[in-house]
Amino acid sequence: MKPHFLLILFCIGAFESKAVGLTARYLRCEYKENPVTDVTNPRLSWELASDERNQVQTAYQILVASSRDDLTERDANLWNSGKVGGRPTYQIVYNGKPLKSRDICYWKVRSWDKNGVVGAWSEVSTWEMGLLSTSEWKGQWIGLDLDHLGKGKTYHLPPAPYLRKEIFVKKGLKKARLYVTALGLYEFKVNGQKAGDAYLTPGWTDYDKRVYYQTYDITGTLKSGVNALASQLSYGWYAGYLGYSLLVQNPVVRAFYGKVPVLKAQIEIQYADGTSETFSTDQSWKANQGALLESDLLNGETYDARLEHQNWDKVGFDDKSWKNVEVFADKADRKIQGYPGPPVKVTQTLNVKAITARPDGSTIFDFGQNFAGIVRLKVKERAGDTIRLRFGEKLHPDGRLMTENLRMARATDTYILKGDPAGETWEPKFTFHGFQYVEVKGLSGKADPETLTGLVLGSDTPKVGSFETDNAMVNQLYSNIDWTQRANYIDIPTDCPQRDERVGWTGDAQVYAKSATFNRDVASFFTKWVVDLNDGQYENGAYPLYAPRPNLRKTDTFSPGWMEAGIICPYQIYRAYADTRMISEGWTHMVRFMDFLEKRSKGGFVFKEGAFDDIDPKGGFGDWLSFGKKTPPDLLASFYYAYCADLMTEMADAIGNEKDKKRFADTAAAVRKAVLEHYTDGEGRFKCDEKAYGNGAGYVDGALGFTGHTQTTYANAIYMQIIKPADMAQAGNFLAALLKENGNKLGTGFLGAKPLLPALSATGHSDLAYQLFLSKEFPSWGFEVENGSTTIWERWDSFTKEDGFKYNAAMNSFSHYAFGAVCEWMFGNAAGIQAITPGFAEFRIRPEIAPKGMSKEGIGKLKASLHTVNGQIVSEWSTNESKLTFKVTVPINTLAHIYVPADSVAKIQLGNKNLSASKELKVTGSEQGYVIVKAGSGTYDFKVSH
Ligand code: BGC
Repeated sequence: MKPHFLLILFCIGAFESKAVGLTARYLRCEYKENPVTDVTNPRLSWELASDERNQVQTAYQILVASSRDDLTERDANLWNSGKVGGRPTYQIVYNGKPLKSRDICYWKVRSWDKNGVVGAWSEVSTWEMGLLSTSEWKGQWIGLDLDHLGKGKTYHLPPAPYLRKEIFVKKGLKKARLYVTALGLYEFKVNGQKAGDAYLTPGWTDYDKRVYYQTYDITGTLKSGVNALASQLSYGWYAGYLGYSLLVQNPVVRAFYGKVPVLKAQIEIQYADGTSETFSTDQSWKANQGALLESDLLNGETYDARLEHQNWDKVGFDDKSWKNVEVFADKADRKIQGYPGPPVKVTQTLNVKAITARPDGSTIFDFGQNFAGIVRLKVKERAGDTIRLRFGEKLHPDGRLMTENLRMARATDTYILKGDPAGETWEPKFTFHGFQYVEVKGLSGKADPETLTGLVLGSDTPKVGSFETDNAMVNQLYSNIDWTQRANYIDIPTDCPQRDERVGWTGDAQVYAKSATFNRDVASFFTKWVVDLNDGQYENGAYPLYAPRPNLRKTDTFSPGWMEAGIICPYQIYRAYADTRMISEGWTHMVRFMDFLEKRSKGGFVFKEGAFDDIDPKGGFGDWLSFGKKTPPDLLASFYYAYCADLMTEMADAIGNEKDKKRFADTAAAVRKAVLEHYTDGEGRFKCDEKAYGNGAGYVDGALGFTGHTQTTYANAIYMQIIKPADMAQAGNFLAALLKENGNKLGTGFLGAKPLLPALSATGHSDLAYQLFLSKEFPSWGFEVENGSTTIWERWDSFTKEDGFKYNAAMNSFSHYAFGAVCEWMFGNAAGIQAITPGFAEFRIRPEIAPKGMSKEGIGKLKASLHTVNGQIVSEWSTNESKLTFKVTVPINTLAHIYVPADSVAKIQLGNKNLSASKELKVTGSEQGYVIVKAGSGTYDFKVSH
């Protein structure tokens, strides 16, 4: 090595060892890096790094300026926060000069550490303001009505319109933006190049109330002179088929919001000389139909490559024979707003794992993973040859593709070749499927794995969690949970991605919301969907069965266990990300819902048997897909009432609303009292008036009969703390006894499965929780894994060896996240990561070590991590006959209460010292089986001898 290299290395080393203070990084605005937003007082956040233990931020300073050069303390023209004392590094509301549409804001931050040492300024980040008012939209809604061309017998699928226009850019430009939206779905190209990489834009909303737009920086794509603008539209959620409306023979099966997909766009140019110009969608655009003959979210696409308009999206294409677009009237009260969520993107590509030739000449391609998305097809055949792709999650035992569980979703893509001798590549644009297998018909030669590539589509929610053990079944289960989340968080949280549903079922969403926060950063995803929920709220205050809320079936209204999503989802977002804005913005909606409950309880603060007999199904969905006697839906509705009142009390406190805090604390107490009076025998055993449900007709699985004494009742009573603290242990014993009576098997449905293991853990039955968790016998999570699942099934018995796919005709999804809500226990109990204060600023790590004696099929090692708004938390334990090791990482700025699994301090070593001799950590208490220590940031290694 040359001497000067050594010198440089020495200098770097010296610099590093001197680096003190905190480094701010991962700067975000409204949960996104360098976004465009139309939130006028956006929230900023950053994370801190330091090599030192016990670090905290004691103050920060933010600078915001209109240009990078002005980002100095002297010149920052938009905001200089000055030195602000305190720890917060997130949810910091911009408090500078009022921002206008199109403003670009450059910002940086620095932090003072616990010793008052100021860290270096962060790298510069930006955000840009979108169009803040609907009146700034010059573009008109344009489209081409091709509806009369839908010609199928079962499906009316008209061709997708193609729209184009050439514009003249007079001179050199400094900045160009494309603002674009559609009623329907759009893809927009500038000079043949797609703007952005998002799919299914602009997303699903209640289009009568609002539609979102996207903003793209097209500075580099536009050039001076003539430029081509081209947009393809599709029917999407606006004008296409939705949900099971066709299956249930609803009078409306498609075009719920409108028949013709339309586009609204404007390109705003700032020239280098300071002048500007705007080009907008208007009458002068040309339109035609083209190769995309059918395009529907549920039913798939048909593309005839022979009908392609060569280079239609580039300059110079002759569009004289194209029609003029039609201009469509706007709705005065429809809001046009910036898309608040994470974009739907191709988040991964998958290769084919196996290929099987079928006797009928078709070929089955297996991706080895159930996922949601599309495939890219690469083929070489003759012009006019047709390739038909059908998608399925499973194969029948004889190797046939199983499509029965798709019900009325045609889920078929068809490509007709133009006969290019160099081969052809095609992928659909405006559809997605839930599948692992693709059946391909029409290939003449030998099938080749390159023929298909899987494109995984989903809302681009950053991965924040990991969970790994030495048990292969558990690892696969965790993978299944995350894949199911990815397959169903597509613009909205759906129930399933494959059959004719894919709607934002609120019950599924609420039971799974907390689990979701352990896997991925879903803050902006829920920011978007909670608006859909509020938009879908009924006049009477009830939140709907699904949001957005088209009328898929006349009798669809609301249901206990589902409608509470309007309270529970914002609450979980608040707990995970300390987001109070979602609470304050939705408060009137949430209060209206609480008013609705109060009114329905008729002043009694409990829902007695039959309280929801007026909805369909009677009583609502109850503990959907449970086994055995049913838990009364009204009892569950009452539990949820108390739970919602608790969450409202906590959220009122978070937004400083003392009056409502008192109101809901009183409600919670009144509900608990009334529930215990009505639904218990006075000794803590739950009961109901079984006769009130008659022969059960009209209720979900009503023929099975009803009882208050079920697994689901006790799991929820413990989880929601419906019973008095003194009765908790007894409730836990009832739960354990009910499980035992059932051969130690769960019988819980959607509402019972989530709280089941947490309730067992909370009442001293962690061993039993582990036993259920690790079971591979039917019904269990492990049973699915044993049967080759790569995602979470809708039903415990979606497939059994005895009955096969017996529910196919009704509903039998293999990608339904509701039962994946066990994730909450995996992170919160097995790994023990539990927030005490919102955002994990103060948290507990209290791992439950898997019982010994299960070591062969059990868990001997576990490592989980969670990247919170404060940074990375890690909990890692490993155990054998003689000792336990436990390693914990605590992020900067947080306080952890670490529960070391040991029965005395003397048995614990921290690093290589006895804990009692350590000056580093303070023992603050103990609890059965744990010694509790308090810790600031850093990584701590414990060893416990048995
Ligand atoms: C969906 C569910 C949903 C349910 C209502 C089903 O068809 O797939 O997950 O919550 O209906 O009970």
